[in-house]
Amino acid sequence: MARGRQKISIIGAGNVGATAAHWAMTKELADIVLVDVLEGVTKGKALDLLQSTPIAGADLRIVGGDRYDAIEESDIVVVTAGFPRKPGMSRDDLLAKNTEIVRNISEKVSTYCPSAVMIVVTNPLDAMAYVAKHYTGFERERVIGMAGVLDSARFRTFVAAELNVSVQDVHAFVLGGHGDTMVPMIRYCSAAGIPLTELLSEDRISAIVKRTQNGGAEIVELLQSGSAYYAPSAAIIEMAEAILRDKKRILPCSVYLEGEFGVEGCYFGVLAKLGADGVEQVIELDLNEKERKEVNKSIEHVKELTKALKLGK
Ligand code: NAI
Ligand code: 2OP
Repeated sequence: MARGRQKISIIGAGNVGATAAHWAMTKELADIVLVDVLEGVTKGKALDLLQSTPIAGADLRIVGGDRYDAIEESDIVVVTAGFPRKPGMSRDDLLAKNTEIVRNISEKVSTYCPSAVMIVVTNPLDAMAYVAKHYTGFERERVIGMAGVLDSARFRTFVAAELNVSVQDVHAFVLGGHGDTMVPMIRYCSAAGIPLTELLSEDRISAIVKRTQNGGAEIVELLQSGSAYYAPSAAIIEMAEAILRDKKRILPCSVYLEGEFGVEGCYFGVLAKLGADGVEQVIELDLNEKERKEVNKSIEHVKELTKALKLGK
């Protein structure tokens, strides 16, 4: 019998997970499974979403609950389960609590869908991706962290607003860990191919870079309860679509590095080609002195966080 539609499972049906399911439904991307410790709420969200499919014109199966057997044969498993930040908290403050959650989920994923590609979202992101890789035992191609697409979208949003041009014409990406040390790559940012440095003053660029680095905290302060979820969930689905539709998109993602950028054995935000096999290529760049310094600072931060997991290599 034909395999039928592809399947995406989302573990953690809170703000980010449920909104990711919504984006996936509107794109008619794949059958959707939501899993969360809150059984009733999750079943309710899945049913509500399912009842929107006739209006959206999406022929999909959408189910929710707290049982992991539902994720069997998933092509992609997205992990958004865990605690979000509160005002005054850094992403790193979530390390201990979320490690246990991601460990538990990773063990379930390796049991129920050992061939899936995982997209890890739970913070602190680069460390949680490491935890997922460690406990699934999956190769690096199949455990990817989501952060760069979000951080780059924030960068692009601010640049487009400053230039008063379409967001579609602004290309930009952010390298590094998902935290204050992230490195928005000014030299590679352009509007319709015109370098940003020819369009804006150093002061304006520097203000945009700072706002990008502080992008998550700005929203946490405004929401006062929880953290951003519309842009994060849109970013997840852009990655999932690249994989499910084998698009070979070049997107900034957190990838387990094996020597690239001089980093060995830890997750770090780089440009990666995403296709049916997950990460199909890590794209290395020549960095100038200033960029190298900033990237090194970010690497040191992520290495420290990874070391604090005490998982060895
Ligand atoms: P939320 O609190 O709205 O949702 C989290 C969900 O996880 C809740 O529904 C909770 O019941 C569930 N959960 C907790 N333990 C679980 C377990 N053991 N198994 C299954 N489900 C479990 O939080 P939100 O806003 O959805 O954020 C989720 C995570 O994503 C946070 O860690 C947050 O910091 C992170 N995040 C990461 C981003 C990134 O760029 N990497 C962007 C936005 C959020
Ligand atoms: C963000 O950047 C909290 O990591 C999350 O919005």
